[in-house]
Amino acid sequence: MKQFKQSDILANLPKQFFAKLVKKVENVKTVHDDVINLGQGNPDRPTPAHIVKALQQAAEKPHYHKYSPFRGYSFLKEAVSTYYQREYGVQLDPEKEVAVLIGAKAGLVEISQCLLNKGDVALVPDPGYPDYWSGISLAQAKMEFMPLLEKNEFLPDFSKIDEDKLNQAKLMFLNYPNNPTGATASKELFEEAVALGNRHDICIVHDFAYGSIGFDGKKPTSFLEIPGAKDVGVEMMTMSKTYNMAGWRIGFAIGNRSVIEALNTIQDHYHCSLFGGIQEAAATALLGPQDCVVELVACYEKRRDAFISALQEIGWAVTAPKGSFFAWLPVPEGYTSEQFADLLLEKARVVVAPGNGFGTYGEGYVRVGLLSDELLLLEAAKRIKELEIF
Ligand SMILES: Cc1ncc(COP(=O)(O)O)c(C=O)c1O
Repeated sequence: MKQFKQSDILANLPKQFFAKLVKKVENVKTVHDDVINLGQGNPDRPTPAHIVKALQQAAEKPHYHKYSPFRGYSFLKEAVSTYYQREYGVQLDPEKEVAVLIGAKAGLVEISQCLLNKGDVALVPDPGYPDYWSGISLAQAKMEFMPLLEKNEFLPDFSKIDEDKLNQAKLMFLNYPNNPTGATASKELFEEAVALGNRHDICIVHDFAYGSIGFDGKKPTSFLEIPGAKDVGVEMMTMSKTYNMAGWRIGFAIGNRSVIEALNTIQDHYHCSLFGGIQEAAATALLGPQDCVVELVACYEKRRDAFISALQEIGWAVTAPKGSFFAWLPVPEGYTSEQFADLLLEKARVVVAPGNGFGTYGEGYVRVGLLSDELLLLEAAKRIKELEIF
């Protein structure tokens, strides 16, 4: 069989760091059947029943069996606007300020191809969600990293970015509540980002994937709540985390009209939107009762409290995340992130994600997903205690 060579663009895509981890886990699993996997970011609870029901009913409607409108059904874009008005007091034009995406990931990758030319610069958080790198690489653009340091509560320090780089940059990615650090943003950070975007003509992309997951009664701020945000940027939201719909593949870009138009244009070429039944079920989720979201956040908060307290009790100096469903834990002295993750896997059969997979500044941390029930999280803490490293 012929072996066709990949295009340069494909061959140069960032390597999937976590593929190595998956392999290691598979190896351990061949010997042990009690591996606790806290390394992934896949919501463990099912989609709420009323949303599933909406899809079941919608699936029977013949008009959804045809191609959907390329830019998504208007009723769905209107539901997104109603949601933003209700949740954040943000007013949107559903047709011009909302793009329907096949998951936020699609929009986060596509946006670089929409706005960057070869050699352009994008500002990216480090540590950060690796899919930003993919789009930038596909656009043959360059990344400039913004360190997220613990002493700054994992917020970027814009004053530390070179003026030259700011002048070259065309795009900036932000993400709060943050994957992987679990940090949340202050309004001031977003205000500074809007000012920076205006001053340097940088499009700000706020990844709000964990927008509904804020703890201790604090609702995370939407970037679009900041006056002038729509002038300089867009927010990406997803149904994946808020409604446990990760497998359904549906998200939205919301905000600046020229960026929404660009995303819709690239999608006209790549896709023909999503199955209408999924769009109808998503609208049901956005417009229906929100107790399922309240319950989900309470569940993650309970898991967080139990797990973090258990780790603190064994002497591990960890802090509780303020949002998202991740805990970002400092690695004990004498280990790299990868060495420590390997130790936990081999000696405690607990899988965590080494922080360096999220960027250079992720070194020294491991990421844990609070995506297993409390008993399993406590069992993981017990096994870590038995290693007697703390
Ligand atoms: C920070 C962040 N952004 C975006 C996504 C992707 O969301 P979606 O499922 O809508 O593609 C994820 C998923 O893990 C994420 O962690």
